[in-house]
Amino acid sequence: MVVGIIGSGAMGAGIAQVAAMAGHTVWIYDTQQAALEKASASLKSNLIKLEEKGKIKDAASVFAAMHFVSNLSTLAPCSLIIEAIIENLNIKKTVFSELETIVADDCILASNTSSLSITSIAAACKLPQRVLGLHFFNPAPLMALVEIIPAIQTDEQLLSTIKELMLAWGKTPVLAKDTPGFIVNRIARPFYGEAIRIYEEGIAEMATIDWALTHIGGFKMGPFALMDYIGHDVNYVVTETVFESFYYDPRYKPSFSQKRLLEAGWLGRKTGRGFYNYAATATLPNPKEDLELGKQIVDRVVAMLINEAMEALHLQIANAADLETAMTKGVNYPKGLLAWCEEWGKENVLAVLDNLYHQYHEDRYRACVLLRK
Ligand SMILES: NC(=O)c1ccc[n+]([C@@H]2O[C@H](COP(=O)([O-])OP(=O)(O)OC[C@H]3O[C@@H](n4cnc5c(N)ncnc54)[C@H](O)[C@@H]3O)[C@@H](O)[C@H]2O)c1
Repeated sequence: MVVGIIGSGAMGAGIAQVAAMAGHTVWIYDTQQAALEKASASLKSNLIKLEEKGKIKDAASVFAAMHFVSNLSTLAPCSLIIEAIIENLNIKKTVFSELETIVADDCILASNTSSLSITSIAAACKLPQRVLGLHFFNPAPLMALVEIIPAIQTDEQLLSTIKELMLAWGKTPVLAKDTPGFIVNRIARPFYGEAIRIYEEGIAEMATIDWALTHIGGFKMGPFALMDYIGHDVNYVVTETVFESFYYDPRYKPSFSQKRLLEAGWLGRKTGRGFYNYAATATLPNPKEDLELGKQIVDRVVAMLINEAMEALHLQIANAADLETAMTKGVNYPKGLLAWCEEWGKENVLAVLDNLYHQYHEDRYRACVLLRK
């Protein structure tokens, strides 16, 4: 099978590597020559490193299967095209309708969008039944999870074909409804939002919140360190998009603390400053290692995460097994949120949420009906 990739940025290059390593010939298209050159150089060096580590046999032949092109019509022989360009609905729609004039009628067209509606993208096509979402995580060669998102127009048979293909690529596919944030980017929102809220209310400093969630909660990174790592240009924009797409549900409300960072150009690690200052001369703040406070923080954030997972289950965004897989493989949570709920006890999760609800009288803290059942 010949695979086409549109956009040779972080995600496009990563997905191209996965497809080439699975034995496909890959055509990678980008409008920017510099982006193609950068992708080509970094893919070459990644493959050489993998060969040196003994993870692949022949880096040169994998690299030779990848072709970097600046003419879209070169993608005519592809049977699957994965788009990973700028996150802009109108530009994506234009690319998809242009692609349809080039490829065969049975070529599958997939988008790696993080937050846009797959149904809207499919609507730009004459054959919308061949369009679906295929959401990889960054870095694509390392992260196993792929969310498969059918648009409401997508041919159901396509889903099993794509699922088999993702398994053959060594990925772990899950099926998600075409709703904002799909699974991971929806359920993970309180990890950031509730942590910021705790900080904004002065309940604890950022370093203490990060310490609590890593040392007591078992998360690999604390929310502030993670947001700085992801970059506020990405993380804030996802939050804002999810909030707007959910008709301004207060549960997903973005914060001014993070917005100001974006406005200042303090995008996180990549600019040397975000919530924390990464300058060589700066010292990172120490947490207050107060176990009682730490436990309160973890209970509040984890209860909100569990509530989000329960709501996604209740609204059939994905089945229980896929929800658990998504959060453990897509964002490396220490355990699935539904399992966490069982372990902790539904009544205890509910007690934390109801307590918050009674304290604040905010719709943000409404508990999912499944927790009461
Ligand atoms: N970065 C992530 O963590 C992440 C994770 C999952 C999904 N995504 C999604 O993947 C997509 C790409 O994200 P990214 O981080 O790789 O972006 P990026 O900015 O690194 O790369 C985008 C590339 O697309 C190219 N491009 C822009 N318009 C184009 C067009 N009309 N035709 C062809 N090429 C075009 C740009 O030149 C650039 O090289 C977005 O939809 C994003 O939401 C990103």
